[in-house]
Amino acid sequence: MPIKLHTNVEGLNGELAIPGDKSISHRSIMFGAIAEGETVVTNFLLGEDCLSTIDCFKKMGVIIERQEEKVIIRGNGFEGLNEPSEVFDVGNSGTTIRLLLGILAGRPFHSVLIGDQSIGKRPMTRVTMPLQLFGAAINGRKNGEFTPLSIMGGNLKGIEYKLPVASAQVKSSLLFAGLQADGTTTVVEPVTTRDHTERMIKQFGGEVEKIGTTIRIKGGQKLTGTSIHVPGDISSAAFFLAAGAIIPESEIKLTNVGLNPTRTGIIDIMKDMGANITITQNIENEFEPSGDICIQSSALKGTTIGGEIIPRLIDEIPIIALMATQAEGVTIIKDAHELKVKETNRIDTVVAELTKLGAKIDATEDGMIIYGKSELTGGMVSSHGDHRIGMMLSIAAALSKEDVYLENEEAIYVSYPSFFDHLNSLI
Ligand code: S3P
Repeated sequence: MPIKLHTNVEGLNGELAIPGDKSISHRSIMFGAIAEGETVVTNFLLGEDCLSTIDCFKKMGVIIERQEEKVIIRGNGFEGLNEPSEVFDVGNSGTTIRLLLGILAGRPFHSVLIGDQSIGKRPMTRVTMPLQLFGAAINGRKNGEFTPLSIMGGNLKGIEYKLPVASAQVKSSLLFAGLQADGTTTVVEPVTTRDHTERMIKQFGGEVEKIGTTIRIKGGQKLTGTSIHVPGDISSAAFFLAAGAIIPESEIKLTNVGLNPTRTGIIDIMKDMGANITITQNIENEFEPSGDICIQSSALKGTTIGGEIIPRLIDEIPIIALMATQAEGVTIIKDAHELKVKETNRIDTVVAELTKLGAKIDATEDGMIIYGKSELTGGMVSSHGDHRIGMMLSIAAALSKEDVYLENEEAIYVSYPSFFDHLNSLI
């Protein structure tokens, strides 16, 4: 059943504590499980994707206790992971399946991985091929490109590998394999991607060397359980940053937002578009920096987005596209082919759904061109099962004077279960 969204909103005002970062939450469970001793995670994201990660590690016998947003993991090192008697179901989570494969690559047991319909369409050769070079045996539909996948790990040898795509998921998967391999593993990125894995290795007492876009890791390191406080997810904050900028009479403060420089492309682009955005508190923290951000309604102008900034804002492109519909002039988004292999083909879903609401936007081979400024109208739109498309459309509806209905709103719970409560609290 489609839901009726809030429309004709006359200003968003108030303060929000943004829920925990999805990428860091996934990794906190994974590192907690392969480290020795207890790891305590606070402000863990209770989204469905991160719960899928917990479920997979429980299937390998890891003891994980959860009290609301606090999670305690009792790790016993890589050797503490047991062969699962059940299939791993990663649901909608690309991060879970790709990073888990890197861990399983070094384990001398057999496992099978599946996910939902969207996962079944997402490319896996980008991880399965290099993991095979390490020595893991992996099979899957279409030569290991798609789920269901099966893997038999063990006896890995370090590799040197140049990533053909800028992907933190692939990099991280190979670093997990590298931790279990004989010798040193070298991964070279085409462009720097989010570095949460590298930071977390250090937080757990391990070593990883980074020179430019080259990352080196030695196999056989022992990691030790630790405390992790997960900062708020800037990719979730992005929906309210954009909403505050484009909805007149708005002023919103977002607290405890992760400000890792490999993730803050959205802030740079908003400043470039003329947004009244300020970081009011900046907590420098070697593990993961964070801070508070204020946004006020802004007169925006179009911009061009491409090149090295793309991995720093890849998940924010749907909401940036909406912002661009409310900016004067043309916005060009290029070098973003990766959008085609996210939870949906986000070039197609953004263009199709915003067009239904009256936006002027064209798809291109590697992005989109948005012609601002356009008035948004009502209609029936769909998330296509993609959380970020569902949230972007809910913000678009707030600008519309006519009724807007959203199909498949439940996709939003993958990364932001309190999204509608947060939106309503600002109206
Ligand atoms: C993620 C990396 C990105 C991002 C995804 C989470 C991660 O994917 O889109 O939402 O946690 O490493 P890619 O590495 O495939 O670009």
